[in-house]
Amino acid sequence: MPELEECSGIRYLRESAYDRKTIKQITRPAIAQVKTFKEYPDAPKIELHRTWELSQSKITSLLQNRRSLRKYGKEPIKLEELAFMLWASQGITAKSAHYSFRTSPSGGALYPIETYLSANRVEGLEPGLYHFDPQNFCLDQLSKGDSTKDVAACCLDQNFMVNAAVCFMWTGVLRRCLSKYGNRGMRYVILDAGHICQNLLTAAEATGNGACPVAAFYDNEMNTLLGLDAAEETAIYAAAVGKKQEIKGEGLKLLKTGAAV
Ligand SMILES: Cc1cc2nc3c(=O)[nH]c(=O)nc-3n(C[C@H](O)[C@H](O)[C@H](O)COP(=O)(O)O)c2cc1C
Repeated sequence: MPELEECSGIRYLRESAYDRKTIKQITRPAIAQVKTFKEYPDAPKIELHRTWELSQSKITSLLQNRRSLRKYGKEPIKLEELAFMLWASQGITAKSAHYSFRTSPSGGALYPIETYLSANRVEGLEPGLYHFDPQNFCLDQLSKGDSTKDVAACCLDQNFMVNAAVCFMWTGVLRRCLSKYGNRGMRYVILDAGHICQNLLTAAEATGNGACPVAAFYDNEMNTLLGLDAAEETAIYAAAVGKKQEIKGEGLKLLKTGAAV
């Protein structure tokens, strides 16, 4: 097993990193686009139900109504809502001899993802940078003061993040996964983050909040903001969360469940 530094998974992360100084010089390979939907015109078609037993249930409306939201109301979110979102994304729900299982699945139950928060408007929580401790279900305060401006700057200056009540930032402790799976472990780190983010988006929707995933960030700036040793732990994904200001996106036509497009 190669040491972390020698893994091609790590090289891939480095080679695909964004850096403020060089981002404009990145040359993307000329790869032709393809259609969004794959079709099998000659295949027999099996019609599917467009409503189902759970049509009226909360899960259907949460999935139907979730949209990436980039405009947030001025009101703070409640600490209780934040606690729910943290639990939904990374809460521990079961224990066995060797593992503490969580709300989100994890390749090999290795849980390489750490959660950090930049809290700006959370009722009962001082603005600051926090780390979520799922074992003790609490937040570690890392620094004081609203850092959402810094987070937005790290995220390619995506200024909508400044108005978020809270930004989630997920990092990968690479060794947790790569020590077992080698290069393939890098896939699992990134997949884990996707599961966690999706749970957060659904939990945000359930609490009357909106969220937007963010994967465009300057890796080194985000790692520095979070005080990470980037050789061991690196930023993977983020999301901005805030009170819903506009429920539906502009110019959006809402469809019924299972509607043909
Ligand atoms: C991997 C990933 C990265 C994304 N990164 C960003 C981002 O950096 N900034 C942003 O505004 N939206 C980002 N988004 C949100 C997408 O633009 C959004 O999911 C897409 O337009 C579909 O809209 P919906 O989420 O409302 O269904 C990202 C989404 C994903 C899944």
